[in-house]
Amino acid sequence: MAARKAGRRRRRTPEPAPPSPSARGQVRGRLVGGLHPAIDRVNRSFEVDRRLWAEDVRGSMAHARMLGARGVLGRRAVARILRGLARVAEEFRTGRFVARPGDEDVHMAVERRLIELIGADGGRLHAGRSRNDQVATDLRLYLVGAAARAQAGVRRVQRALVALAARDGMLALPFYTHLQRAQPVLLGHWLLAYVEMLEGDRRALAYEARECPLGAGAGAGSGFPLDRRQTARELGFARPSPNSLEAVASRADLARVLAGMGDTATTLSRLGADLVLWTSREFGFARLGDAVSTGSSIMPQKRNPDGAELLRALAVRVHAAWLRVQELQRGLPLGYSKDLQEDKPALFDAEDALAGMLDAAEAMLGDLTFDGARMQAALKDPAGFLLATEAADHLVRKGVPFRAAHEAVGRLVRRCEATGRGLGDLNLAELRAAHPAFGPEVRRALTVEGALAARRAV
Ligand code: ARG
Repeated sequence: MAARKAGRRRRRTPEPAPPSPSARGQVRGRLVGGLHPAIDRVNRSFEVDRRLWAEDVRGSMAHARMLGARGVLGRRAVARILRGLARVAEEFRTGRFVARPGDEDVHMAVERRLIELIGADGGRLHAGRSRNDQVATDLRLYLVGAAARAQAGVRRVQRALVALAARDGMLALPFYTHLQRAQPVLLGHWLLAYVEMLEGDRRALAYEARECPLGAGAGAGSGFPLDRRQTARELGFARPSPNSLEAVASRADLARVLAGMGDTATTLSRLGADLVLWTSREFGFARLGDAVSTGSSIMPQKRNPDGAELLRALAVRVHAAWLRVQELQRGLPLGYSKDLQEDKPALFDAEDALAGMLDAAEAMLGDLTFDGARMQAALKDPAGFLLATEAADHLVRKGVPFRAAHEAVGRLVRRCEATGRGLGDLNLAELRAAHPAFGPEVRRALTVEGALAARRAV
């Protein structure tokens, strides 16, 4: 530690250390000289993991307090460390933290700055821990916030959908199977389907940091009389992680949160796909406001749904993050390997992509209008035969087995198609020619209102 501190203090070069014995400034232990710049470039993670500064400081404070309570650190050293860490946090918070070339990652940057601020006592903090349990702890603490932020974003999108349903939910339109018009539904039904899917996603995003890795050390635990229950409690975990090897090696918690983010991304991508279809001239069911539409650099008439398309595309990033984290762990020997450092770019990329998607979805839903006339036209198009199922159900109510009813109505549809008419254009005699069980109440059954009103089950 003393050598490390001296090395850091002597260091003045702003560039990564060249591979010469005079280069100093990193924890080099038995190693002589600086790290080769090519290795330093891939090894360094500070610019990415500096995002964990608040969690890193929190974890360090808990660790210092616990070391104090256990008598590993003196009271004055603990007080100094806590004050120093608070100042480091303040520097990060206010954007005044100055990185040094030797700052390999956020953990070393915080500790380096702490030692600069409070002197040798700062070098006492790392007793009984390793960056391996430190980063695993930071990550789980960060996941709590990331999952909660994503959940809050999902809530906002749900609210926007509910607001649309309250405004226009009683409009009727066709729903689709195989992208072929199928049956009439209410717009509210469609909008609330997304609310429901998002509710499942929100549940999948629920993350509670249960087991605290801190104290697992490099992986074999610590010879100091650590009170792991105290640090776990202080950091909001339910308990210390029971196995120190698992604690430093596993990124299962991360994968679980990424899976929840992936579920959300899938739902938003489908919403995006529907918006792209609906705002097309071919559908014409919806129109995005100018502020959430994009133009074309060549075609002056264009009103493009780029935001909706990107809901589809950004989902790929979120899904890829889950796969990245699984692939990082696949085949790794038990314990910590530096491969795991690549977990954070995956997480942050997914988090940012999803945050962008949630904001964009909320903005588009807030500036979306529906064209009830176009929906009606699609419903009433005689060639759509949207009420064919109602005709068959009518026969079933008259005692006809469903299979026979299905066949009879199929025959009617074929006949209508040949003569360019809709089912509603047929008179009772024509209907009875296809099946004698047709009764006069079929008139009501063969209306959109009748079809919607007939759906009374939960
Ligand atoms: N930056 C590292 C990571 O993100 C911290 C742990 C480094 N541990 C080590 N033994 N080199 O995984």
